[in-house]
Amino acid sequence: MSKSSRGLGHELLDESLQGSPTVVSSHPTHTKKLYLESYGCQMNYSDSEIVASILDEAGFATTRNSDEADLILLNTCAIRENAEQRVRSRLRQFKSAKAERPHLVVGVLGCMAERLKESLLEQEKLVDLVVGPDAYRDIPNLVKQVEGGQKAVNVLLSREETYAEISPVRLDSNGVTAFISIMRGCDNMCSFCVVPFTRGRERSRDPKSIVREAHELFEAGYREVTLLGQNVDSYKWNLDNKGQVKDPNQPVVRFAELMEKVAAVQPDLRIRFSTSHPKDMTDDVLHVMAKHENICKYIHLPVQSGNSDVLKRMNRGYTREWYMDRMAAIRRIMPKCAISTDIMTGFCGETDAEHEDTLSLMREIRYEMAYMFKYSERPKTLAERKYENDVPEETKSKRLQEIMELQRENGTARTLAMKGKTYRVLVEGTSKKRDDQFFGRNTHNAVVVFPKGDAKPGTYVNVQTLDCTPATLIGEITLEEADA
Ligand code: 5AD
Ligand code: SF4
Repeated sequence: MSKSSRGLGHELLDESLQGSPTVVSSHPTHTKKLYLESYGCQMNYSDSEIVASILDEAGFATTRNSDEADLILLNTCAIRENAEQRVRSRLRQFKSAKAERPHLVVGVLGCMAERLKESLLEQEKLVDLVVGPDAYRDIPNLVKQVEGGQKAVNVLLSREETYAEISPVRLDSNGVTAFISIMRGCDNMCSFCVVPFTRGRERSRDPKSIVREAHELFEAGYREVTLLGQNVDSYKWNLDNKGQVKDPNQPVVRFAELMEKVAAVQPDLRIRFSTSHPKDMTDDVLHVMAKHENICKYIHLPVQSGNSDVLKRMNRGYTREWYMDRMAAIRRIMPKCAISTDIMTGFCGETDAEHEDTLSLMREIRYEMAYMFKYSERPKTLAERKYENDVPEETKSKRLQEIMELQRENGTARTLAMKGKTYRVLVEGTSKKRDDQFFGRNTHNAVVVFPKGDAKPGTYVNVQTLDCTPATLIGEITLEEADA
C-alpha cells in the first residue's frame, strides 16, 4: 500500500495495522538485507524512514521479501490492544522462520518496546532485539551485539532526541507526497492514551532542519509535505515549558511561524499537518492557513466525545463548548475548510445520554471524515488506574455502529456537495482500480480520479468533478478556473 492512499488521521485506518513491508534501493556495497514492517500512525511510518536511513549507513539494503532478510524489524503500535495482538501473531510467524535460518535477527521497534521488552525477549523468546522510539541511532550497535550471541535492548526515552539531521530514506514513496516529523513525544496526558509512556516527553525539532528537509524534498520532485507531530499546535522552538525564551539571540518559532516558513519554501509545495489539538489550536494558525494558498484547507481535529463530562474524565483539557468555539473560528476564518476527527466510544462510565451528545455534535459539525474507535484500556494510563472500564463490549459495539452509520451519511453528503465543482488537484499516481486513470487530492483531502490525459504525477491539474462514490470524486481535467 502506498502512503498516499492513507488517511491523514493520527491513527491510521485499521487495514494499516496489518503492517506494510517497505523497500528501498539495493545499494551495490550493501551486503546485508533489512525487512522492515510498520504498524500504527504516520509518525511510526516516518520513524521507519529514519531507521532505514540509519541502517543504510550501516550497510543494510532494504528488501520487500522477508525470506531473503538478515534482519527483520517490526515498528510497532500500542494504541489499542488489537494493534498489539497483530504484532504478536506476526512475530510468531517469524519465530518459525528463525528456526530454519538461525542467523536471522528479529527485532521490535516503536511503541510496544518499553512495556513488552521482558515478555518478548525472555518469556516468549519471540525476538532478539528491542528498541524504543528514541534509541534508533543505537540499532547498528545492538544488531552487532545480537550477532555476537546476546540479546539486546535499548528503550531509553530522551528529552532531546529529534533525529533532526538524519535524512530519512523515503520508503514506499510515490515521489510526490512525504512526511516531515516536526516534533516527538506528547505532554498532554489524556487519560486513555499510552503515547506519553511509549514516546516520552514532548520536544520540537529545529525549524532550520525542517525547512531544509522541505527544500530538499521539493528539489527531489516532491510537491506535498505533511508536518507530523502528536500535537502540532504545541510546537515551540526556543521556548521552555513555562513559555520563557531560552536563548534571547535566537528567534522564537511557534507552529504558526513554522508554517509560514514552510509555506515560503515554494508556492508549488503543498502543506498539510497532523494532528491538531482543540485545546491548543489558536486563531494565529488559522490565519496563516487562510493566507497561504499552498497550505491545504483541511484540519484533523480529534474531538473524542461530544460530552463535556466525558471529556473531563478523558483529561482532554476542553469542553464541548470550547470545541464548538474552535469550530466556529475555523468556519469564520476559512469557510470552506474540511474537517476530520477521531471519536472514541465506550470510554469509562459513558452513559447513553453522553453517547447521544457525541451523535448530536456529529450532526452539528458534519465531519468530512472520522476515524472511530472503541475504547481499549491501556496499561499505566490514568484511566486504567482511576476508572473502571465498565461499558460492556456489546454496548461499545452498538455505539460504534451508530457513530459509523451517522458518519457514513455525513461523509456521503459532504462528497456530494463537492460534485460539479472544479478543484486544483495534485496528481499522485495511477488509480488502483483503473490503469488509464490518475488519482490525486484536492485541498480538502478528498480523493479525485480522472482520465490521465497529458497529466503527470507530481503536477497540478484542474479537475471538474462530474460524479462521486461515497468517498471518491470522479471527474475530468479541465482548463476552467478552479473553485478551490
Ligand atoms: N482506546 C481506543 N482508542 C484510542 N485512541 C487513543 N487511545 C485509545 C485507546 N486507549 C484513539 C483516539 C486517538 C487516536 C489516535 O486513537 O481517538 O485520537
Ligand atoms: Fe503512533 Fe505509537 Fe500512538 Fe501507535 S501508540 S498511534 S504508533 S504514537
